[in-house]
Amino acid sequence: MVPVTLRVRRQVAGEGRWQVYKVEAASEKATVLDLLLKVKEEQDPTLALRYSCRMAICGSCGMVINGRPMLACQTKLSDLGTTDISVEPMWNYPVVKDLVTDMGEFFDKHRRVKPYMLRREEEIFEGGDEFRQRPEDVERYLDFAYCIFCGLCYSACPRVAENPEFLGPQALGQAARWIFDSRDRGAQERMRIADGEDGLWSCHYIGSCSEVCPRGVEPAFAIQLLKMRAMRP
Ligand code: FES
Repeated sequence: MVPVTLRVRRQVAGEGRWQVYKVEAASEKATVLDLLLKVKEEQDPTLALRYSCRMAICGSCGMVINGRPMLACQTKLSDLGTTDISVEPMWNYPVVKDLVTDMGEFFDKHRRVKPYMLRREEEIFEGGDEFRQRPEDVERYLDFAYCIFCGLCYSACPRVAENPEFLGPQALGQAARWIFDSRDRGAQERMRIADGEDGLWSCHYIGSCSEVCPRGVEPAFAIQLLKMRAMRP
């Protein structure tokens, strides 16, 4: 067993405080989510957190672990190299309770870039054929399509912290995902949104969004590609 000290930033009804829990991990392979659930089961059922898949797919368990936005279910004790662990709710989001953040604005911004295929209805429903793509067409957007909507990129972005109106790395990354999809016909419409006020030029290419992405999506790179597209004569 590995003794661990967990400092958890708790917030209830707007009041924030740190709470320390001592917990025994089964091994160094235990994840931060395992430890939080152990605390919840054995010591404090009032601790609030969000999770679902426990395998880095659903994107629910984003939090700030030892000062870095990460997925709790993907972060093992051995990754952290310490048994002193601090856990905070994701930065740049309102806190609902303890480690649970309000993702409403994040998803509103995502919806703003129209994250779905835009084609005329008759092409979709009366075309009668698939929209075929060559492997090289898929390559142009595939990496950006791995987003799991965890919100870590948005949490890590200092520009979102400075300007909450900024569309942010996730929404812009997903704008790129569809703009570079050869089946889509909405690039102009999406570029108007991405290139608007509080859009892609608010990004200073700090790159922390790409660093923390658990799926290697690289929103910072996507935004640079959109800037190049916007500069085309
Ligand atoms: S619980 Fe689904 S990503 Fe962590």
